[in-house]
Amino acid sequence: TNTIDLAVIPGDGIGPEVIAEAVKVLKKATQNEDVRLVLSEYRLGAEHWLATGETLSDGTLAELRRHDAILFGAVGAAPGDTRIPSGLIEREMLLKLRFAMDHYVNLRPSKSYAGVPSPLADPGTIDFIVVREGTEGPYVGNGGALRVGTPHEIATEVSVNTAHGVERVVRDAFRRAADRPRRKVTLVHKHNVLVHAGHLWRRTVEAIAAEYPQVSHDYLHIDAATIFMTTDPARFDVIVTDNLFGDILTDLAGAVSGGIGLAASGNLNMDRTAPSMFEPVHGSAPDIAGQQKADPTAAILSAAMLLEHVGLPAAARRIEAAVEADIAARPQFSGTRTTSQVGDAIAAGVS
Ligand code: NAD
Ligand code: IPM
Ligand code: MN
Repeated sequence: TNTIDLAVIPGDGIGPEVIAEAVKVLKKATQNEDVRLVLSEYRLGAEHWLATGETLSDGTLAELRRHDAILFGAVGAAPGDTRIPSGLIEREMLLKLRFAMDHYVNLRPSKSYAGVPSPLADPGTIDFIVVREGTEGPYVGNGGALRVGTPHEIATEVSVNTAHGVERVVRDAFRRAADRPRRKVTLVHKHNVLVHAGHLWRRTVEAIAAEYPQVSHDYLHIDAATIFMTTDPARFDVIVTDNLFGDILTDLAGAVSGGIGLAASGNLNMDRTAPSMFEPVHGSAPDIAGQQKADPTAAILSAAMLLEHVGLPAAARRIEAAVEADIAARPQFSGTRTTSQVGDAIAAGVS
């Protein structure tokens, strides 16, 4: 019997509510597998910081590294919460984890589900993945401010793009595209304005495309990409893009493909030098927290991605099938189920 040793970080807001359901479904999906699931809960996030002053200590980081994978809810305070500096937890805990664990592929799939209404009149059949770079770009904190508070204040946030970082994520996108029926990669950037980074991304895509003659590729500026994401999302197969464009585009992708409550993600270290981390795309949703209103499906589908990553693809498929069946039955509940009722229904549907 193999042991799968997971760290679970419920976090803030709806994080603990949706993670409780993901754990419920994980247990159900692995109960007939020849594995022993060991879960260790870590209390991290805004509430934990208020109580202890810890964002993410070196000691906790070292402990997290020892697990096979991490299941993460969401962190972050409500926008009006003045007790916590804006973004402190996001940067010093979540981004610190992604960077420290070298989660260079932030994989965010989108697909249409039967029974889910889209805000688009005619979305077509959506089935694409966004391969978002996860360790570079404007997220590295390479910025500063001069003459703060004066009329001559200067604020900079510098996007860092390295040949190594761009190459490994672009290569990952082509590798994934080669295994998909449509075999197409779309680079999304803004090389008409962001010349230096844009050209590095472009050259890298051209070089790697030459290694994958069976995969076609094209290019869209990020602004145009948002047009097509709303007018014709079915055109996309594999999108590869930088950290910030990928952040924005995947909230939009979630919205057009059935709602942010369905959008799952994996922060992947494809070299397996540290555990990968699985989390819904959404945040802590302070506006609905504590009310059992959150849709736990994104967290549950993230748990399925986790099982796939740790070598249990059959269990992952069983969760996905249960989610699909539950989603198809949703119209009859017309949004009246609580978070835990949705989790119970999906868990019950896992064969
Ligand atoms: P958000 O994703 O938390 O919420 C945006 C909207 O989507 C809200 O109306 C919310 O109610 C709704 N929503 C989100 N998840 C839902 C779900 N599962 N079911 C139903 N509705 C859902 O984004 P925000 O409001 O910009 O951010 C809130 C906080 O979360 C901020 O502190 C932000 O920094 C943080 N955040 C954290 C993460 C993360 O931990 N990975 C991701 C995004 C935002
Ligand atoms: C996400 C979130 C994070 C991001 C924030 C909370 C740092 O929006 O996971 O999409 O920007 O990556
Ligand atoms: Mn985001």
